[in-house]
Amino acid sequence: MRLTPPSKDELDPIEIASRDEISALQLDRLKWSLAHAYRNVPLFRERFDAAGVHPDDLKSLNDLAKFPFCKKQDLRDNYPFGMFAVPKADIVRLHASSGTTGRATVVGYTAGDIDNWSNLVARSIRASGGRREHTVHVTYGYGLFTGGLGAHYGAEQLGCTVVPMSGGQTERQVQIINDFGADIIMVTPSYMMAIAEEFERQGLDPRKSPLKAGIFGAEPWSEAMRNEIEERFDIDALDIYGLSEVIGPGVANECIETKDGPVIWEDHFYPEVIDPETGKVLPDGEKGELVFTTLRKEAFPVIRYRTGDLTRLLPGTARSMRRIEKITGRTDDMLIIRGVNLFPSQVEELVVQTEGLSAHYVLEVKRESALDTLTVRVEHALSGSSDPAAATNLQQRIKNILGVTATIDICAPGSIERSLGKAKRVNDLRKV
Ligand code: DLL
Repeated sequence: MRLTPPSKDELDPIEIASRDEISALQLDRLKWSLAHAYRNVPLFRERFDAAGVHPDDLKSLNDLAKFPFCKKQDLRDNYPFGMFAVPKADIVRLHASSGTTGRATVVGYTAGDIDNWSNLVARSIRASGGRREHTVHVTYGYGLFTGGLGAHYGAEQLGCTVVPMSGGQTERQVQIINDFGADIIMVTPSYMMAIAEEFERQGLDPRKSPLKAGIFGAEPWSEAMRNEIEERFDIDALDIYGLSEVIGPGVANECIETKDGPVIWEDHFYPEVIDPETGKVLPDGEKGELVFTTLRKEAFPVIRYRTGDLTRLLPGTARSMRRIEKITGRTDDMLIIRGVNLFPSQVEELVVQTEGLSAHYVLEVKRESALDTLTVRVEHALSGSSDPAAATNLQQRIKNILGVTATIDICAPGSIERSLGKAKRVNDLRKV
């Protein structure tokens, strides 16, 4: 049995308020957030002054475009607490990114921020069909990463039974899912595939597990991967989006009745999509870089934060709030192979659709005598064997659909490293 969508009276009234009501609330909250950031964060005060703008200049939502952007580097430059807007004594929680590509970035929360965040993750789980009687198995990593604790507090807020499993111990994940009767799993889509394999390795059919829905995010995943997961487990696979700098998971979440891209919780986060080259705001529907301004964050407000994520804003369907198109890439994970722009998720789409191949893949980019080469290493499916037709088939589709000549290296099941959290899909040897 699948989960059912919430009825209108289970929703927060603002989820289905009129657009005018949502805009009015956003304008009010935006004024507060700009003033709060200006008053309490030196970086914002200096940037606004340098740009010749003041929070009082915001008369309509469109006026936000006059304000300067901020980005990840600003957090690094102000490591660890330089962008906090409240005294340290009011901070009840810290999270941080691992900092593999530079200094770690640190974010902080007041008790009020934690409350709001929990409510938004609870709303996300409810949009996915979750209710208080459900058991939620949390496989996102607990610790400095926002995934584990963010999901945990939200599920608890909704009144669910939470299983704080965290990542790893794949064998045990299977046992606990079955023994504790998990209805919902929250995990990265790549690790969900490793869990599927573990079911099969133990001789269990994942379709017979108690799971009814999964809430997947923290990394890009294709529609083909959604179909694969839904088919393998006989569940609904929902997309949850978020980032630490804005709050963590629960900035946006899909609704189970439509599954047409995550709905942005616009009462807390004001979205814009900009041209990543010029910084100009693009009209809804056009693809560009997603930018967020927090409307309620106390400890760590961000004004026009450039996420690096590429998507477009879409009109509301199941809710009045706008959606984002499923995010397929970031400005910084686009590969340029002999002049052709390519995102790993585009290759994923084709890999997953190819008969005889598994969803475990990695892209290797090299430079050989000044020319870039792409190798797609992919495991053959557990049941099959290394079928040369699969390689030819994939190679042709990558050439025809994406316009890139790739070498296909089909390897044995288990030879590509499994991630416990976010998968690393690209091995760019040009940078070595
Ligand atoms: O990944 C928060 C999160 C945890 C979201 C659990 C969902 C579930 P960060 O580690 O700061 O925070 O990474 C944020 O991950 O800018 C995107 O590039 C990517 N990302 C997150 N969710 C999705 C998604 C968490 N649903 C960065 N689809 C973001 C595609 C996603 N990319």
